Amino acid sequence: MLNFEFKNPTKIIFGQGEIAKLSTEIPKGAKILVLYGGGSIKSNGIYDEVMNALSGRQVYEYGGILANPEYEVLLGALEIIKDKEISFLLAVGGGSVIDGTKFLAAAAKYDGTPWDILSKPIRTLEGEALPFGTVLTLPATGSEMNSGYVISRRKTNEKRSSSGPGSFPVFSILDPNVVKSIPQRQLANGIADAYTHALEQYMTVISDADLQDRFAESVLISLQNTAPKLLQQDFDYHTAANYMWCCTMALNGLLQKGVVTDWAVHAIGHELTAYFGIDHARTLAIIAPSHYHYNFEYKKEKLAQYAERVWNITEGSLEDKAKLAIEKMEAFFHSLGIKTKLSDYTKDYKGTAERIEQAFIDREWLGIGEFKRITPQDVKKIVEMSY
Ligand code: NZQ
Ligand code: ZN
Repeated sequence: MLNFEFKNPTKIIFGQGEIAKLSTEIPKGAKILVLYGGGSIKSNGIYDEVMNALSGRQVYEYGGILANPEYEVLLGALEIIKDKEISFLLAVGGGSVIDGTKFLAAAAKYDGTPWDILSKPIRTLEGEALPFGTVLTLPATGSEMNSGYVISRRKTNEKRSSSGPGSFPVFSILDPNVVKSIPQRQLANGIADAYTHALEQYMTVISDADLQDRFAESVLISLQNTAPKLLQQDFDYHTAANYMWCCTMALNGLLQKGVVTDWAVHAIGHELTAYFGIDHARTLAIIAPSHYHYNFEYKKEKLAQYAERVWNITEGSLEDKAKLAIEKMEAFFHSLGIKTKLSDYTKDYKGTAERIEQAFIDREWLGIGEFKRITPQDVKKIVEMSY
């Protein structure tokens, strides 16, 4: 097991009715800015629940932070934070609203051009950002219990990320009842995103970090078991609760401790969202199978372990199992209603591979993956395989 440090300061408040605890979790006397997305919280009752819990408090609000949060939109919120001397941010939404809030928390205390935080990128240290909490409305990204955030800038077709120990939420409220109003497309996205988070921290090399491997395998198995119930049945609280907690556990830092990780699928996938607006999770389903095929020789032992332990495949050679594992993974994405070829999403895919290759060269991302040996030329080939 590799050396590691682990500190996750986010307090998780999980369960039904827990949104009411906002009244005690946010410091008394705080000037609060509530941030939200395109309006789902107004139609499903979450907005009212939040505002009831905050009654009597000094509250401002800023809506319109849509999927793949846009830098220019966030600058509007930054003005309010500065004008009104906001002291606490509350994100009420999915990964996009939470990520936007993390960026604002950092930008509020940063003197330079806010985009520096993403383009340099600047890691926010503890105490360097405004404090913020979250009410999670869409289980998927794990953003509610990690310090990462991803922001888009449509003007330049960029989607960039940052993180830092000062960018964890102070608390996150996870009430599985929020799942009732989530459309099927977003539920499928949530499962696929969390599934890929577990994969990216697992599908590398055989490791002696047995517990982390088994944590990751448990998340994968639980997501596989939960997905059909979540997508095909009426709302069930316990199914929603498992789905929600799997998504949080998939990316709260625990799985990646003591092991090497490979975030290539995410790095490439973000480009597809930046160019074509494809939902984040779907970009991962497009890239993951090609990535694992292309890097088969390096990953086949781990792919075979995944085949055995996650899919109960016991027959055949190591290579046979590893190949079947990729087929199973792709079939799982299909079972969610998610297509796995770029051409399923856009007719304009030609030239995408070269464009991503060039973007990676320009950013000097010359080696990605667990051993930093995937070059921009390799990335080009992986993207071509996903056409
Ligand atoms: O905007 P509203 O009207 O609220 O609707 C949203 C949005 O259209 C809707 N929604 C959310 N909760 C709902 C609901 N609809 C009905 N009922 C509810 N309870 O769902 C739509 C998608 O929301 P969004 O927040 O964009 O989805 P998601 O949570 O998948 O977040 C995606 C963003 O997170 C980033 C992605 O790159 C993308 O920008 N990621 C963040 C990560 C992190 N911080 O750790 C890691 C991930 O890998 C990912 O990169
Ligand atoms: Zn993701």
